[in-house]
Formats: sequence, C-alpha cells, structure tokens
Amino acid sequence: MTQVQFHKNSKHISRYPDIIPNITKLSHSSKLQMHQIELTKGNFLFIHPVKDPEFYEFLYIVEGKLGVGDQIYDKYDYYIVDKSQEEVIIDILEDTILLSSIPSGKKAYDTNRFKELAEIMEAIQEKDHYTLNHCKRVKSISKLIADELKLHPKDKMNLLKAAFFHDVGKIMVEDQILNKVGKYTPDEYLLMKKHVTFSSEILGSKYPGLVHEIVLEHHERLDGSGYPNGIKDISLLGRILAIADTFDAMTTDRVYKKGKTFSVAIEELKSLSDQYDLDIIMLLEKIIQEKSELLMK
Ligand SMILES: [Fe+2]
Ligand SMILES: [Fe+2]
Repeated sequence: MTQVQFHKNSKHISRYPDIIPNITKLSHSSKLQMHQIELTKGNFLFIHPVKDPEFYEFLYIVEGKLGVGDQIYDKYDYYIVDKSQEEVIIDILEDTILLSSIPSGKKAYDTNRFKELAEIMEAIQEKDHYTLNHCKRVKSISKLIADELKLHPKDKMNLLKAAFFHDVGKIMVEDQILNKVGKYTPDEYLLMKKHVTFSSEILGSKYPGLVHEIVLEHHERLDGSGYPNGIKDISLLGRILAIADTFDAMTTDRVYKKGKTFSVAIEELKSLSDQYDLDIIMLLEKIIQEKSELLMK
C-alpha cells in the first residue's frame, strides 16, 4: 500500500548564514537524507574531496546564483559531489537556496566543527562592530588576489579561511582595549598583539593544516619588524593576508579616523615595500583599477 507522509518539523542544524551555511534537515528516510542549504551572497562554499566511494550528493539550485570559475549556475541548475571530487570553491553571487540529497547513513554536514568558530565571530560582533565586517572584507580582498595569482584551490581555500578568521583571537582581548579610541599604552599594545597567537591557537584545534600558520603570520613584516615572532621569511599566503588586512584597515572609516581612498592606501603600501610584498601590492593596484566594484565597502 502506498503511503503519503507529511512532516512539519524540519530540523534546523545551523543558524549563522553570514558565517557558515544555514542548513535545515528536511527528511530522514531509510534511503535518503534531504537538506536545505541557505547561502548568503558574498560568501564562499568550500567543497572538500570525499574519499568514501559510496558517497553521492545531488544539489539542486532552488533559487540564487553560484559561480564556479568563469561558469555561472542559477535556478534549475544542479551539481553532483562524489568521491572523485577535488577541492572546489563556489562563489555565492546571490542569496541562494540549495536542495541536497545524500544517501542515508552518510555523514553530510559537520557544522559542529564550525559552530564554535561562528559563535565566536558572533560574540566578537557584540564586542566591537568593526571586526566581523573587517574579516569579511579581508576575505574578499584575499580572494581577488588569489584569483589574480591563480592559486591552487587548496591554497586559496586555506587563505580564505585564514582571512575570515584571522582576528578571531580578539575575543580574548578586553573590550576597552579593542574599542579604545586613541593610542595604546605600551602594556595595552602588548595585550592587543596577543590576538594573533590567540587566533592561531583557536584555529589550530579546528584546522590542523595550514590555516593557523597563515594566521600567525598576518602581522609579520618582511623586514622583521612584525609580531609575534619578528620573522622575515613569510609564506606567500601570509604575505597576501598581511596586505589584504592592512589595506582594509587603511581604507575603512573608524570613529577616530576617516578611511583613506584606495589609491592613497596603495601608494602608502608601496612606500612600505620593505615590510610588504611589492608584487602583491602591484597586483592589488591592478585589481583596484580594473574591478574596484568587487571590493566591498
Ligand atoms: Fe590582526
Ligand atoms: Fe585584521
């Protein structure tokens, strides 16, 4: 006998659309798991390689627009993830809803791993109203540079994660230091500088790979004047992140200062080429000249 089942209570798995996809579990039949995935414009979706030969995910775009390389996929398009999948980064070009179907018993979304990070980022937003948006912008500047450099997807993925979470350690810095208007005392500056090590430690437990190492380098400078370790030999991804971070800080309005224009910030970075990689600065200048509309402000 055929049976039609109606269900009311879909299960919401995560709720941080700005930070990680918003996922709702829709069905739990013996054969299939269905999820609805909501993605926010301007974010990225990382697809990691799947080793399980039995894994198969069908994703259908209910609404929205996604970019993969030069291709654009929108309503009625779909894509499939299986064991042969390499790392892929999907640009979320418009707010998007996906419908996902995977076999029952297969692990689908490990949102718990990111939940803690997402919660910290939300808490940071409560502490100061600058850092979360700064991290989003640093991520998109880093992405533009990575695309221009044609970085390997794996490097790009690590860079974008590092860019988004690079200041997560600010959660451990006191509010009055974080929000201080005016110059830091030497002691306050010491405490502020610790956010780098805190970020790296928090991320080290979530991302065993490169991410926390890149984060550790974001305030290092080529002449050795940076912190926390004063190293001169900084990785390419660390050098990109340092420039994206500084460029955003220079060009953003704060309570105590007006942001510089893009071109003034680039000239200032060029004058600091003993500290920042000049090739990457020149690349950023090219991006600004050709596609400044892609830089969010
Ligand atoms: Fe920082
Ligand atoms: Fe930063």
